[in-house]
Amino acid sequence: MAQYEDKVLHGVDGIEEYDNPMPGWLMAIFWGSLVFAILYLGYYALAFGERTYESEYRGEMVTDLSSVQAYYDTHPVVPPTSDELLAGAVNPEVLVKGKARFTKTCSPCHGAAAQGLIGPNLTDTYWLHGGQVTQVFTTIAKGVPAKGMPSWGRAIPPEELAALVSFVRSLQGSNPPDARPPQGQAETPEPLPSR
Ligand code: HEC
Repeated sequence: MAQYEDKVLHGVDGIEEYDNPMPGWLMAIFWGSLVFAILYLGYYALAFGERTYESEYRGEMVTDLSSVQAYYDTHPVVPPTSDELLAGAVNPEVLVKGKARFTKTCSPCHGAAAQGLIGPNLTDTYWLHGGQVTQVFTTIAKGVPAKGMPSWGRAIPPEELAALVSFVRSLQGSNPPDARPPQGQAETPEPLPSR
Protein backbone atom coordinates (compact mmCIF):
# COMPACT_ATOMS: atom_id res chain seq x y z
CA MET A 1 0.00 0.00 0.00
CA ALA A 2 2.96 2.28 0.43
CA GLN A 3 2.95 3.38 -3.19
CA TYR A 4 -0.45 5.12 -2.73
CA GLU A 5 0.43 7.06 0.36
CA ASP A 6 1.56 10.22 -1.38
CA LYS A 7 -1.59 10.24 -3.50
CA VAL A 8 -4.25 10.74 -0.84
CA LEU A 9 -6.52 13.49 -2.12
CA HIS A 10 -9.11 13.86 0.56
CA GLY A 11 -10.94 11.99 3.25
CA VAL A 12 -14.44 12.38 4.63
CA ASP A 13 -15.55 10.63 7.80
CA GLY A 14 -12.46 8.50 7.69
CA ILE A 15 -13.09 7.37 4.11
CA GLU A 16 -10.12 8.38 2.03
CA GLU A 17 -10.02 8.65 -1.72
CA TYR A 18 -6.91 8.29 -3.85
CA ASP A 19 -6.27 10.45 -6.85
CA ASN A 20 -6.02 7.66 -9.40
CA PRO A 21 -5.89 8.93 -12.97
CA MET A 22 -8.30 7.41 -15.52
CA PRO A 23 -6.63 4.80 -17.70
CA GLY A 24 -5.16 6.15 -20.90
CA TRP A 25 -7.54 4.32 -23.25
CA LEU A 26 -10.57 5.78 -21.47
CA MET A 27 -9.10 9.27 -21.63
CA ALA A 28 -8.44 8.74 -25.33
CA ILE A 29 -12.12 7.89 -25.91
CA PHE A 30 -13.15 10.89 -23.83
CA TRP A 31 -11.00 13.42 -25.67
CA GLY A 32 -11.61 11.72 -28.98
CA SER A 33 -15.38 11.98 -28.65
CA LEU A 34 -15.08 15.61 -27.59
CA VAL A 35 -13.03 16.47 -30.66
CA PHE A 36 -15.40 14.45 -32.85
CA ALA A 37 -18.43 16.25 -31.43
CA ILE A 38 -16.91 19.68 -32.14
CA LEU A 39 -15.97 18.73 -35.70
CA TYR A 40 -19.36 17.11 -36.29
CA LEU A 41 -21.20 20.14 -34.97
CA GLY A 42 -19.16 22.50 -37.11
CA TYR A 43 -19.40 20.38 -40.21
CA TYR A 44 -23.07 19.47 -40.17
CA ALA A 45 -24.97 21.74 -37.83
CA LEU A 46 -23.06 24.97 -38.43
CA ALA A 47 -22.50 24.06 -42.09
CA PHE A 48 -18.76 24.77 -42.30
CA GLY A 49 -18.58 21.82 -44.64
CA GLU A 50 -20.52 21.29 -47.84
CA ARG A 51 -22.99 18.88 -46.33
CA THR A 52 -25.63 19.95 -43.88
CA TYR A 53 -28.37 17.63 -42.66
CA GLU A 54 -30.66 19.28 -45.12
CA SER A 55 -28.42 18.98 -48.16
CA GLU A 56 -27.84 15.34 -47.30
CA TYR A 57 -31.59 14.73 -47.00
CA ARG A 58 -32.22 16.49 -50.29
CA GLY A 59 -29.52 14.45 -51.98
CA GLU A 60 -31.17 11.23 -50.83
CA MET A 61 -34.58 12.45 -51.92
CA VAL A 62 -33.32 13.37 -55.37
CA THR A 63 -31.93 9.88 -55.87
CA ASP A 64 -35.18 8.45 -54.65
CA LEU A 65 -37.37 10.64 -56.85
CA SER A 66 -35.36 9.85 -59.95
CA SER A 67 -35.62 6.13 -59.22
CA VAL A 68 -39.41 6.48 -58.92
CA GLN A 69 -39.46 8.37 -62.21
CA ALA A 70 -37.21 5.78 -63.86
CA TYR A 71 -39.54 3.02 -62.74
CA TYR A 72 -42.61 4.67 -64.23
CA ASP A 73 -40.75 5.52 -67.43
CA THR A 74 -40.40 1.79 -68.05
CA HIS A 75 -43.67 0.70 -66.40
CA PRO A 76 -46.31 3.15 -67.58
CA VAL A 77 -49.39 3.43 -65.38
CA VAL A 78 -52.45 2.23 -67.27
CA PRO A 79 -55.57 3.14 -65.33
CA PRO A 80 -58.75 1.13 -65.76
CA THR A 81 -61.47 2.93 -67.73
CA SER A 82 -63.53 5.67 -66.07
CA ASP A 83 -66.60 3.46 -66.45
CA GLU A 84 -64.99 0.67 -64.45
CA LEU A 85 -63.80 3.03 -61.71
CA LEU A 86 -67.17 4.80 -61.50
CA ALA A 87 -69.06 1.50 -61.44
CA GLY A 88 -66.90 0.51 -58.45
CA ALA A 89 -68.07 3.61 -56.60
CA VAL A 90 -71.61 2.19 -56.43
CA ASN A 91 -70.56 -1.43 -55.88
CA PRO A 92 -70.65 -2.31 -52.15
CA GLU A 93 -68.11 -5.12 -52.54
CA VAL A 94 -65.57 -2.84 -54.17
CA LEU A 95 -66.23 -0.15 -51.57
CA VAL A 96 -65.59 -2.52 -48.67
CA LYS A 97 -62.25 -3.42 -50.20
CA GLY A 98 -61.37 0.18 -50.97
CA LYS A 99 -62.32 1.34 -47.51
CA ALA A 100 -60.26 -1.39 -45.80
CA ARG A 101 -57.17 -0.37 -47.77
CA PHE A 102 -57.82 3.31 -47.25
CA THR A 103 -58.10 2.88 -43.47
CA LYS A 104 -54.89 0.87 -43.36
CA THR A 105 -52.73 2.84 -45.75
CA CYS A 106 -54.10 6.29 -46.46
CA SER A 107 -55.93 7.47 -43.34
CA PRO A 108 -52.76 8.40 -41.39
CA CYS A 109 -52.18 11.24 -43.88
CA HIS A 110 -55.62 11.91 -45.33
CA GLY A 111 -57.73 11.30 -42.22
CA ALA A 112 -60.11 8.46 -41.34
CA ALA A 113 -62.91 10.10 -43.33
CA ALA A 114 -60.52 11.43 -46.02
CA GLN A 115 -61.15 14.88 -44.59
CA GLY A 116 -57.47 15.78 -44.95
CA LEU A 117 -54.63 15.93 -42.41
CA ILE A 118 -51.10 16.07 -43.81
CA GLY A 119 -52.52 15.32 -47.24
CA PRO A 120 -55.43 17.15 -48.83
CA ASN A 121 -59.13 16.63 -48.25
CA LEU A 122 -60.27 13.99 -50.78
CA THR A 123 -64.01 14.49 -50.24
CA ASP A 124 -64.38 17.94 -51.78
CA THR A 125 -64.48 18.86 -55.47
CA TYR A 126 -61.10 20.62 -55.43
CA TRP A 127 -58.12 18.77 -56.85
CA LEU A 128 -54.42 19.55 -57.14
CA HIS A 129 -53.72 16.78 -59.64
CA GLY A 130 -57.04 16.32 -61.42
CA GLY A 131 -60.35 14.96 -60.14
CA GLN A 132 -61.28 12.61 -63.00
CA VAL A 133 -61.18 9.07 -61.64
CA THR A 134 -58.48 8.06 -64.12
CA GLN A 135 -56.37 11.04 -63.01
CA VAL A 136 -56.89 10.12 -59.36
CA PHE A 137 -55.74 6.60 -60.21
CA THR A 138 -52.57 7.93 -61.81
CA THR A 139 -51.91 10.30 -58.89
CA ILE A 140 -52.18 7.47 -56.39
CA ALA A 141 -50.07 5.08 -58.49
CA LYS A 142 -47.25 7.54 -59.20
CA GLY A 143 -47.62 9.63 -56.07
CA VAL A 144 -46.23 13.12 -55.71
CA PRO A 145 -43.05 12.10 -53.89
CA ALA A 146 -41.60 15.61 -53.85
CA LYS A 147 -44.68 16.82 -51.95
CA GLY A 148 -44.91 13.94 -49.49
CA MET A 149 -47.49 11.77 -51.29
CA PRO A 150 -45.86 8.34 -51.65
CA SER A 151 -45.97 6.46 -54.91
CA TRP A 152 -48.21 3.41 -54.42
CA GLY A 153 -48.04 1.76 -57.83
CA ARG A 154 -45.44 -0.78 -56.75
CA ALA A 155 -46.86 -1.43 -53.28
CA ILE A 156 -50.56 -1.90 -54.04
CA PRO A 157 -51.89 -4.29 -56.70
CA PRO A 158 -53.83 -2.59 -59.55
CA GLU A 159 -57.16 -4.07 -58.53
CA GLU A 160 -56.85 -2.63 -55.03
CA LEU A 161 -55.73 0.71 -56.47
CA ALA A 162 -58.91 0.74 -58.54
CA ALA A 163 -60.98 -0.07 -55.42
CA LEU A 164 -59.29 2.85 -53.64
CA VAL A 165 -60.18 5.23 -56.44
CA SER A 166 -63.80 4.02 -56.44
CA PHE A 167 -63.93 4.42 -52.67
CA VAL A 168 -62.50 7.95 -52.86
CA ARG A 169 -65.03 8.82 -55.58
CA SER A 170 -67.85 7.53 -53.36
CA LEU A 171 -66.77 10.00 -50.66
CA GLN A 172 -67.27 13.04 -52.91
CA GLY A 173 -69.55 15.51 -51.15
CA SER A 174 -69.61 13.49 -47.91
CA ASN A 175 -68.68 16.65 -46.03
CA PRO A 176 -66.87 15.08 -43.04
CA PRO A 177 -66.26 17.11 -39.86
CA ASP A 178 -62.96 18.99 -39.45
CA ALA A 179 -62.37 18.94 -43.18
CA ARG A 180 -59.27 20.65 -44.50
CA PRO A 181 -59.98 23.72 -46.63
CA PRO A 182 -60.10 23.15 -50.41
CA GLN A 183 -56.84 23.03 -52.36
CA GLY A 184 -56.44 23.23 -56.12
CA GLN A 185 -59.01 23.59 -58.87
CA ALA A 186 -62.76 23.08 -58.53
CA GLU A 187 -63.98 20.29 -60.79
CA THR A 188 -67.38 18.83 -61.48
CA PRO A 189 -67.40 15.19 -60.34
CA GLU A 190 -68.12 12.65 -63.08
CA PRO A 191 -71.63 11.29 -62.65
CA LEU A 192 -72.00 7.89 -61.00
CA PRO A 193 -73.87 5.18 -62.89
CA SER A 194 -77.25 4.31 -61.43
CA ARG A 195 -77.54 0.79 -60.17
C1 HEC B 1 -47.32 10.04 -46.00
C2 HEC B 1 -48.56 10.74 -46.16
C3 HEC B 1 -49.52 10.24 -47.23
C4 HEC B 1 -50.04 8.97 -47.38
C5 HEC B 1 -49.77 7.74 -46.53
C6 HEC B 1 -50.95 9.05 -48.48
N1 HEC B 1 -50.97 10.31 -48.99
FE1 HEC B 1 -52.09 10.96 -50.54
N2 HEC B 1 -51.22 12.79 -50.41
C7 HEC B 1 -50.32 13.18 -49.46
C8 HEC B 1 -49.92 14.56 -49.70
C9 HEC B 1 -48.95 15.37 -48.86
C10 HEC B 1 -50.61 14.96 -50.87
C11 HEC B 1 -50.53 16.34 -51.55
C12 HEC B 1 -49.51 16.30 -52.67
C13 HEC B 1 -49.33 17.66 -53.30
O1 HEC B 1 -49.32 18.67 -52.56
O2 HEC B 1 -49.17 17.72 -54.53
C14 HEC B 1 -51.42 13.83 -51.28
C15 HEC B 1 -52.25 13.84 -52.39
C16 HEC B 1 -53.12 12.82 -52.72
C17 HEC B 1 -54.06 12.86 -53.81
C18 HEC B 1 -54.22 14.03 -54.79
C19 HEC B 1 -55.22 15.00 -54.25
C20 HEC B 1 -55.46 16.15 -55.21
O3 HEC B 1 -55.94 17.18 -54.72
O4 HEC B 1 -55.16 16.03 -56.40
C21 HEC B 1 -54.78 11.70 -53.80
C22 HEC B 1 -55.90 11.29 -54.73
C23 HEC B 1 -54.24 10.91 -52.70
N3 HEC B 1 -53.23 11.62 -52.06
C24 HEC B 1 -54.70 9.65 -52.37
C25 HEC B 1 -54.05 8.84 -51.45
C26 HEC B 1 -54.40 7.45 -51.23
C27 HEC B 1 -55.54 6.71 -51.92
C28 HEC B 1 -53.54 6.97 -50.29
C29 HEC B 1 -53.43 5.56 -49.75
C30 HEC B 1 -53.03 4.56 -50.69
C31 HEC B 1 -52.67 8.08 -49.90
N4 HEC B 1 -53.00 9.18 -50.62
C32 HEC B 1 -51.70 7.98 -48.93
C33 HEC B 1 -49.85 12.42 -48.41
C34 HEC B 1 -50.11 11.08 -48.25
